[in-house]
Amino acid sequence: MLNLSIMTRDTEIFDIIRQERERQTKGIELIASENFVSDQVLEAMGSVLTNKYAEGYPGHRYYGGCEVVDLGENIARERLKKLYNAAYVNVQPHSGAQANMAVFMACLKAGDTFMGLNLSHGGHLSHGSAVNFSGLMFRAVAYNLDENTGLIDYDNLEKTAREERPKLIIAGASAYSREWNYARIRKVADEIGAIFMVDMAHPAGLIAAGLLDNPVKYAHIVTSTTHKTLRGPRGGVILMGEDFPNPWGKTTPKGEIKMMSALLDSAVFPGTQGGPLEHVIAAKAVAFGEALTPEFKTYQQQVKKNAAVMAQHFMDKGYKVISGGTDNHSMLIDLRTKYPELTGKVAEKALVSADITTNKNMVPFDTRSAFQTSGLRFGTPAITTRGLKEDKMGWIVELIDRVLQDPESEANIQKVREEVNREMNQYPLFAW
Ligand SMILES: Cc1ncc(COP(=O)(O)O)c(C=O)c1O
Repeated sequence: MLNLSIMTRDTEIFDIIRQERERQTKGIELIASENFVSDQVLEAMGSVLTNKYAEGYPGHRYYGGCEVVDLGENIARERLKKLYNAAYVNVQPHSGAQANMAVFMACLKAGDTFMGLNLSHGGHLSHGSAVNFSGLMFRAVAYNLDENTGLIDYDNLEKTAREERPKLIIAGASAYSREWNYARIRKVADEIGAIFMVDMAHPAGLIAAGLLDNPVKYAHIVTSTTHKTLRGPRGGVILMGEDFPNPWGKTTPKGEIKMMSALLDSAVFPGTQGGPLEHVIAAKAVAFGEALTPEFKTYQQQVKKNAAVMAQHFMDKGYKVISGGTDNHSMLIDLRTKYPELTGKVAEKALVSADITTNKNMVPFDTRSAFQTSGLRFGTPAITTRGLKEDKMGWIVELIDRVLQDPESEANIQKVREEVNREMNQYPLFAW
């Protein structure tokens, strides 16, 4: 066999991979947007499919030799349609932000107004941050959470929609632990003639398992990542239900009206991306196949149960959980009720030193900057994959509280870290 290696084994990089595997194995992973994929998802991602160029779509490629990858991409599409009862899907977006960018490109012109959840209330940066394409190229307006309840302020959303008349309304968030009232948003979108898009990146796995309402029933367009609760490889997807009449079809230079499905496909390729990552698309297909099994539903039920129990333990210890609990896999903690002087930044650092991984997060109406923050975001998808059940959630919250009581003490952190490592040793993670 031809030896394609141009040098001896790259121990420098493989040692880094080993270190990262060790880090993932020994700690408690509580980042709400992370998960651990199955061995077969990993195997598909590390496969020879990475060698193939396949610009275009199955059956219509700009390269020869795509017959085999066409089969994989078609399976990914069919499984994704089945998972969410969708009529149209695109599995090529390289990430969630890329999927969102393609929707903007298909639906808006530069400078058009769109509306999303205020970023400091839980919205994602691709929903209008001033440093992201969405805020740089389009005019972003925001709706807010209610300061008292921590829930979406639907009155404020409707009022802002009627005043600003955005062409696109986005629901979905990076840090919102409650169910959405999609029907109410669709109603106001219809009233002002806006396109309604839902970015379901965070709860996609719970939705696939039927544990939260399916936005494909309400929105014109739905986007998602595949790597959070859905437990697939890093990537994005776009979906539409039956309900995509095409009042927004743009005319082509030849004067034909283009359907929204065609607009979205061309916004992904050639609009914003080149060749699709067929190895990742195969891994997406594997993950969608896993998500169609009864075991996946059991997993998601446990994710939800773990989150509800964890949120209750936080409240029992005197922490404020924004909105008073969670309907999904995540929760946002306002540290100020218990430790007014402690910033999210210091808390995150201390917890990471104790091998408890989480991230600082702004809380709604935060008095601190995005670099300091007054909150922490927690999620249960990764620890649930690891096998932890609800009876362990009190133990985790207890450890977190011990770290936060004395975040500057290395001795305190070390004691917690040893306990974390000892316990997590009981939950094997990788087969290799
Ligand atoms: C709601 C939402 N949309 C989009 C994204 C972006 O996904 P990606 O990091 O794959 O671009 C995220 C990432 O956290 C997210 O939370």
